[in-house]
Amino acid sequence: MNPRPPGLPKLALVMVGLPARGKTFVARKLQRYLSWLGYRTLWVNVGDYRRARAGARQPASYFAPDNASTAEQRRGFAMAALDDLLTWFAQGGEVGIYDATNTERSRREALRTRLHAAGVDVLFVETICDDDSIVAANVRRNKLRFPDYAGVLPEDAFWDFVARIAQYERTYVPVADDEGSYVKLVDAGVKVVTHRVQGYLPARLAFFLMQIRPQERPIWLSRHGVSEFNDLGRIGGDPPLTERGREYAQALARVVREQPVAPVVLTSTLQRTMQTAEPLGLPYQPLRLLDEIDSGVCDGMTYEEIKSAMPDEYAARSADKFRYRYPRGESYSDVIQRLEPVIVELERQRDPVLVIAHQAVLRALYGYLMGRPQDECPHLAIPLETLIQLTPTEYGYDETRLALMA
Ligand code: F6P
Repeated sequence: MNPRPPGLPKLALVMVGLPARGKTFVARKLQRYLSWLGYRTLWVNVGDYRRARAGARQPASYFAPDNASTAEQRRGFAMAALDDLLTWFAQGGEVGIYDATNTERSRREALRTRLHAAGVDVLFVETICDDDSIVAANVRRNKLRFPDYAGVLPEDAFWDFVARIAQYERTYVPVADDEGSYVKLVDAGVKVVTHRVQGYLPARLAFFLMQIRPQERPIWLSRHGVSEFNDLGRIGGDPPLTERGREYAQALARVVREQPVAPVVLTSTLQRTMQTAEPLGLPYQPLRLLDEIDSGVCDGMTYEEIKSAMPDEYAARSADKFRYRYPRGESYSDVIQRLEPVIVELERQRDPVLVIAHQAVLRALYGYLMGRPQDECPHLAIPLETLIQLTPTEYGYDETRLALMA
């Protein structure tokens, strides 16, 4: 489904900021969020154009603003990335993310002029951090693994990157009010400044940007233990856990107790998820937003019963499981729309989070966290009796699946 209200203009999110300020982290989060909501989204990274065309291994002097030969080359890479973005917009793209330093006002003006001429609105997203210790930690954590430093001693790579940043600092001018709309994220989002953020999508993105932080805490996902309906092959309803379901809840509690930090626990309002949370001995927050996909008139039936009583409905769902909406119920696309506040909550939380929910809902959440295309969601494997542990990496999550009843 495309959630764009009619007449919504195309939008370019133009990143701004010195190297190692988290631009790509933010850009990738925006990309994942927008794609998950159904926008046709493209992320272009000018650094990738440079690495592909000039080679990854360039010394800090390559980035000097007064190095005439390389400055021209770098401008060419920036424009090549912009050309590709404009071509994609012309072919129906909706939100483009242009990821580069864009620290010079003249560069931003050139981008804005060409994007506006193509009928694309611009929102600058600037990341600012003046805390040297945070920047140094970011360089050590993320940049030294770049192809730019393959085979280079970590300490040499570190100081080269510091020198690269200094080259950019020479001409860096933060975005000014007369440059149009912007969101500035200061010190990893501790302070957020917005200017002329207008319209449905920019406003929504500004709110999302206020929540995101560099994350070092894990997210765990689990379906409830086996319920009486699972045993009978029936969908929906509000059945209790079976004996085996309660054993799973105990097994889950044992694993969670072994963790160094107790998680924030979110469940649905259906008794099977709350019964699964009970043995944890932790407070939990039941959210209606996490209730299972509403199967409407099919609630409580088996798939076989649906097939014989409502063959057209069954066939329609098999043909397009993502868009199919149960009569008087929901589609996967509806589930994604309703889960958006949960995504914002997951981004906002600083502590580990355990979500105990249901198959369709967890498919949608997992799809967002792992950056999977929207229409793959209904087919993702989220088995019962399995704890999915997602550990943050530079721009996403590593995944471990623990089968707790094997
Ligand atoms: O069968 C368990 C269940 O959670 C049902 O309540 C729900 O309708 C179903 O899974 C969702 O899975 P699918 O979209 O594959 O039917």
